[in-house]
Amino acid sequence: MGAGLEFKPKILGFLCNWCCYAGADLCGVSRFQYPPHIRVIRLMCSGRVDPAFIIRAFLNGTDGVFIGGCWLGECHYVTEGNYDALSVMHLGRKLLVHLGVNPERLRLEWVSASEGIRFAEVMNDFSKQIKILGPLGSSEGLDPKRLKLQLEAAARLIPYLKLVERERLKVRFNTEAEYNKFFSSDEVNRLFQELVVDKLSISQIMLLLHNQPLSTGEIAGILGLNPSEVSRHINSSSRHGFVRYDVNRNCYSLA
Ligand code: FES
Repeated sequence: MGAGLEFKPKILGFLCNWCCYAGADLCGVSRFQYPPHIRVIRLMCSGRVDPAFIIRAFLNGTDGVFIGGCWLGECHYVTEGNYDALSVMHLGRKLLVHLGVNPERLRLEWVSASEGIRFAEVMNDFSKQIKILGPLGSSEGLDPKRLKLQLEAAARLIPYLKLVERERLKVRFNTEAEYNKFFSSDEVNRLFQELVVDKLSISQIMLLLHNQPLSTGEIAGILGLNPSEVSRHINSSSRHGFVRYDVNRNCYSLA
């Protein structure tokens, strides 16, 4: 990028009212400097952040999403929503990896109401990191149209993802280290692959077929998937009555 055209990342922060937002407020009152291109949405608790918020933010062209909450053990609600925020962050990052998006574009940090300086440090660091990554999709080498399709497919899958989280991945540990270990375990990776990744591919195929009839090869080419994998998804979708085959045109369309 040339001189005078410095990349200014679009960063969206979801901040818990009681700690991180108050920390941001103190940061402003104390005149600590942090980048002006960060937009903030105040929530009552970091546990209110829904995976849909994250995907929608990226769909709207955000380059980085930040979640700020109270330190573990200091959430102001009996449900201790910041533990849920940790799970949402881990699942969100897994989803981003499967969309080809760098998971470092999603960050969660704890900031107390008295940590104005920490808020400034965290936001400066995150902004620097997103600047290095560049605009969404650029460092990942993703075609903007394909990225949009993938994010839209992911957005459609969110209710299902929340069900998977509630039924199969609901955990409560005491420390971040335990969450990190659990969400990077082989067991969770296998579950995610089995329960989410295939559904994500099917969701992308359905979106493509919604626009126009396509052959297996064309779908595979657009999505960068193996043709045999596309055939498997098409066959299962046909069995469920979602897709039909046009013999004359040798392509598939939505039923
Ligand atoms: Fe701050 Fe729950 S009230 S994370």
